Amino acid sequence: MTAAPLLSVRDLTVSFGGRVTAVRDASFDVRPGELLGVVGESGSGKSITALAVMGLLPPTATVTGSILFDEQDLLAMPRSRLRKLRGREIGMIFQEPMTSLNPVFTIGDQITEAILVHERMSRKAAWDRASELLEKVGIPAPRRRLQDYPHQLSGGMRQRVMIAIALSSSPKLLIADEPTTALDVTIQAQLLDLLNQLREDFGTAILLITHNMGVMAEVADRVVVMYASRIVEQSGIFDLFDRPQHPYTEGLLGSTPELDADTPRLRTIAGTMPNPSELPPGCLFAPRCPKVVDACLAAQPALVPVAPDQRAACILAPGLIESTP
Ligand SMILES: Nc1ncnc2c1ncn2[C@@H]1O[C@H](COP(=O)(O)OP(=O)(O)OP(=O)(O)O)[C@@H](O)[C@H]1O
Ligand SMILES: [Mg+2]
Repeated sequence: MTAAPLLSVRDLTVSFGGRVTAVRDASFDVRPGELLGVVGESGSGKSITALAVMGLLPPTATVTGSILFDEQDLLAMPRSRLRKLRGREIGMIFQEPMTSLNPVFTIGDQITEAILVHERMSRKAAWDRASELLEKVGIPAPRRRLQDYPHQLSGGMRQRVMIAIALSSSPKLLIADEPTTALDVTIQAQLLDLLNQLREDFGTAILLITHNMGVMAEVADRVVVMYASRIVEQSGIFDLFDRPQHPYTEGLLGSTPELDADTPRLRTIAGTMPNPSELPPGCLFAPRCPKVVDACLAAQPALVPVAPDQRAACILAPGLIESTP
């Protein structure tokens, strides 16, 4: 029996100025304590999906659908309540920690500030807690490090500080958008281990966005594959690697570099993703698909179940063909 989802996104559609649809009809769940990966090429709508969940889309965005977090609809919630929820119950980490940390304040000031936003305690107590958090994210000599400014830390250390800040309120959900992409591969692997450990220790659910299937293989329980604004496959991690149902997923797997190789980013599948302001009719992957048939051009295939805990939006999905009489 699976637990009720912590985050439940239904038919999420995000468009800009009625022209660009960045995310279309996205539905997915994140269960308590699970790590859901979101993977896809650049521009597929991963960050926009995450920003929608956090209520941080620019004002030019139009959003429809529903986003239930702990059974509360985030899209229907007043901004002030959402702001409280964000940071307290939903933590975030982004790709470039240097831009998220303030260069003129010490690490200690910034973590303490984050703690004091959500909890009533003395500055001294918050400072002690900041030190504990740094220790938890694997920063040696945390007391001393608290006195440092961001530029005195390496990229990997800064990202650990960001994780410490995100964890300062013990969130139920951590959203991490390419948290390791800017780092070298050894540090990437260490940070992924850290995320995994935090999940085990605190039961934090994690929504992890990445370009990298190798990263997914390492840490994800389930994966959402996005292509040109749509979810094209959703699957448990083992099924995804064992029997991918969408040719786009197959393409991504075929181009998966090892996590410890020199090329941490995906090598490309032949062709390019369609421009979101002029999407072709039919399956959006058809122009690049090695398996394309005439029927693919007729209509956009719906994301349908093809196996237990596996859905795909492809009329040629092997699971679909097996299950039709
Ligand atoms: N403020 C905006 N106004 C108009 N279009 C936008 C805006 N922000 C994003 N988009 C478009 O939405 C689409 C999805 O963008 P998104 O940032 O979610 O991609 P992504 O999957 O996160 O890519 P990457 O891997 O490069 O981070 C892109 O086509 C992008 O150009
Ligand atoms: Mg992005």
